[in-house]
Amino acid sequence: MTMDVIDFDGVLVIGAGLAGLSAALSAAPRRVCVLASAPLGDGCSSAWAQGGMAAALSDADTPALHAADTLAAGAGLVDAGRAGLLASEGPAAVRWLAGLGAPFDRNADGGFALSREAAHGQARVARVGGDAAGRAIMDAVIRQVRMASHIEVREGWSLRGLLQDATGRVCGVRLAKAGETCALRAPAVILATGGIGGLYAGASTPRTLLGEGLAAAALAGAVIADPEFVQFHPTALDVGRDPAPLVTEALRGEGAILVNRDGQRFMTGLHPDAELAPRDIVARAIHAEREAGRGAFLDARKAVGAHFPEAFPTVYAACRDAGIDPRIEPIPVAPACHYHMGGILTDADGATRLPGLFAAGECASTGVHGANRLASNSLLEAAVFGIRAGRAAARRTLAGRPLLGTPELSALPEADLSRLRSAMSRDAGVIRDAAGLSRLLDLTEVLTQAHGPSGPLIAARLTAACALERQESRGAHYRSDYPEMAPEAQRTLVTLEAGTLSRMAA
Ligand code: SIN
Repeated sequence: MTMDVIDFDGVLVIGAGLAGLSAALSAAPRRVCVLASAPLGDGCSSAWAQGGMAAALSDADTPALHAADTLAAGAGLVDAGRAGLLASEGPAAVRWLAGLGAPFDRNADGGFALSREAAHGQARVARVGGDAAGRAIMDAVIRQVRMASHIEVREGWSLRGLLQDATGRVCGVRLAKAGETCALRAPAVILATGGIGGLYAGASTPRTLLGEGLAAAALAGAVIADPEFVQFHPTALDVGRDPAPLVTEALRGEGAILVNRDGQRFMTGLHPDAELAPRDIVARAIHAEREAGRGAFLDARKAVGAHFPEAFPTVYAACRDAGIDPRIEPIPVAPACHYHMGGILTDADGATRLPGLFAAGECASTGVHGANRLASNSLLEAAVFGIRAGRAAARRTLAGRPLLGTPELSALPEADLSRLRSAMSRDAGVIRDAAGLSRLLDLTEVLTQAHGPSGPLIAARLTAACALERQESRGAHYRSDYPEMAPEAQRTLVTLEAGTLSRMAA
């Protein structure tokens, strides 16, 4: 068998959300090729982010306070050094994006206008246009990428696998576009392929995010960290849409309250911070109200009221599309898959354990999110660690000689993807137990026998198998059969060797 391989003397960036594009810009003057499965700005969660970027930008705040909130939200699994790095480099990353043209909201004195979100000790979320941060930041970054002479962009290409040399070093990628395939060889590859929201029947992210980067890295032998930790945003608009539009947490930061169908406020008895309790706690409370048939609604009539259209234009438009006027009626809400805390294990420069392979953004596990990501830390992580990964990848100059026959991701037919999505939502959702997770694992096995190692099946299997093994409840991972948190916090580190999951010492 032969393989036509095109040489590229630079950095290949797979994925074009904020992490991928921050990496591409920061690799200058090294040549970069950005390979995206959709036109830039489409198909990435970054552009859908509403809240903004958390950073210590006010006089009252410090990176140490931000890092402390990040650690507390992560329920014992956050790497303190990485959280410190995120928080200390955060303000510069926000200013870098502002310098690229991201139009952050400002106060009268020119400082950043800051919102408060759950589990933050104070207002520290830099926002844009009220609730349109992701779109506006991405528009600014995309303009810079299109103008950058060191970057070329190829759209419509999906990842099929990684090229490796005889030592396991990653030396390129296999890609596919409309039935055509190609292989690109390069000294460095950065995976920035986003999360796994598309594996769930209810998600607040694009449906096309199916864990391909995570799966390709796992197939190549990379270490995967904490894949069982999936965050469910408590308040997605509950009007039967898939994906479900987000109802930003900043609304609760403004004082909007959660009530059931009888108008009873249910968070006050559950946590001292009520609606601003950590996300996992709010998500489980909403889940419980809905399961009990009482429904859950976000009531912003008093806290926001007539200002809703200007203050939260994105949420307002989504509500009006669904025939709801949030100025005068409560908004029906339900938890939806929102963010994958687990991912490809990296060091502080985005390097994975496979030489030549870097990861950034949601597909990576830098260690800053632990068991439960703090609100508005994801765009921040994408920028801070995207920049670091871009700089580090640019320093690699030698590409290995690819071996033939390195493993490739197969396709999963739409009908079976649909079965998988329903099973993930039912069995690896807000509340999990051994019976459901075992049933889900059986399904991934049956579908893998039929279709081979597809990206969604590998990502689902990693999530389900590690969730089954974690016999405790911690952060976003809640087991109804093990409701207590274990005394010792242990990260999950696994590899996938010849189809078998192996656990590594944390
Ligand atoms: C939100 O606006 O509620 C989402 C923010 C985030 O997930 O970080």
